[in-house]
Amino acid sequence: MSNTNIQIFDTTLRDGEQVPGCKLNTEQKLVIAERLDALGVDVIEAGFPISSPGDFTSVNEIAKVVKNATVCGLTRAVKKDIEVAAEALKSAKKPRIHTGIGTSDSHVKYKFKTTREDILQRAYECVSYAKSFVDDVEFYAEDAGRTDNEYLARVCEEAIRGGATVLNIPDTTGYCLPSEYGAKIKYLMENVKGIEKAILSCHCHNDLGLATANSIEGVINGARQIECTINGIGERAGNTALEEVVMILKQHPYLNLDTNINTKHLYEISQLVSDSMGIYTQPNKAIVGANAFAHSSGIHQDGVIKNRETYEIIDPKDVGVTESSIVLTARSGRAALAYRAKNVGYELTKLQLDVVYANFLNFADQKKEINDSDIHQIIETSSVYQQILTT
Ligand code: KIV
Ligand code: ZN
Repeated sequence: MSNTNIQIFDTTLRDGEQVPGCKLNTEQKLVIAERLDALGVDVIEAGFPISSPGDFTSVNEIAKVVKNATVCGLTRAVKKDIEVAAEALKSAKKPRIHTGIGTSDSHVKYKFKTTREDILQRAYECVSYAKSFVDDVEFYAEDAGRTDNEYLARVCEEAIRGGATVLNIPDTTGYCLPSEYGAKIKYLMENVKGIEKAILSCHCHNDLGLATANSIEGVINGARQIECTINGIGERAGNTALEEVVMILKQHPYLNLDTNINTKHLYEISQLVSDSMGIYTQPNKAIVGANAFAHSSGIHQDGVIKNRETYEIIDPKDVGVTESSIVLTARSGRAALAYRAKNVGYELTKLQLDVVYANFLNFADQKKEINDSDIHQIIETSSVYQQILTT
């Protein structure tokens, strides 16, 4: 059975940049956009052109330099927004307008103070207006996660009637359980008339820590695009992390779902985004965190030294990390100490290791982590040092 391709829609420069204090200038955005293109993302959401003159310029400049990916601009279901986005995208090889409107009862009632019927009409109108500028129009049903499925299906039908090529089903508030989100996608696949004319897209927020799980459930149930950001940055608790969904699909080949991402660039682009935005990546972050391939307990270290796969499900080289690391702390065992000592030039016999290890434990109890120069000091102050020198 041939694999199905899942489109990766990166929104680091739009939803990701909504993190307070992380605003980027046009030059920084251009560098990130070019790296995203080299990474192999299918779509780059470059910004929200009507939101500010700076964002318009960024989308416009990105549209000029991106070689392979589709370049996308966000709009509300407002004519002026759509005209400005079309203008910003005019140099793009593959332009896409991403337009839409809130569909949950609370959005209809409190945000728009209108009726469901009016929202259906606006959904049709915004898509067909965007379609008069570009062929590729994505429609978002904001707060789809809390919109009842029957009504959501009618909204999708209106967007398809207007010419939408992609239907974005955002769990805007990060509320859904994976089973609910998966069922929503399945329902839409089975009940939206004309669904074969468009693909469904997952756009999940991480308020309950479920963004990645929800996106994966979405594609298992028939969605063909995932919207995500590098390092999972974004509004509030963030968006689905690109590196997580890509590696989940790669590490579970029996799902028969592929992406076009060159995973060897993942670590490098994670560092770039974190440095440019001044937003620190937590050390235990999956795939790209500083500790993602670091082993510190004696039992794990012994296993990894014997065979990396005992405690690692990903080869670090596959995501651009040079190698796994064996971290020396007071919880480390003899195998780890011998391994690190060998790396800095000492081949210890079993007897020598026993003596040096006792010295190491005293040292490690005083210090959180033992580095290479500490190893030299520990060995050189051990009673067996002369013996080591002569072996
Ligand atoms: O979370 C959301 O609903 C969004 C839309 C604007 C696509 O970001
Ligand atoms: Zn969002």
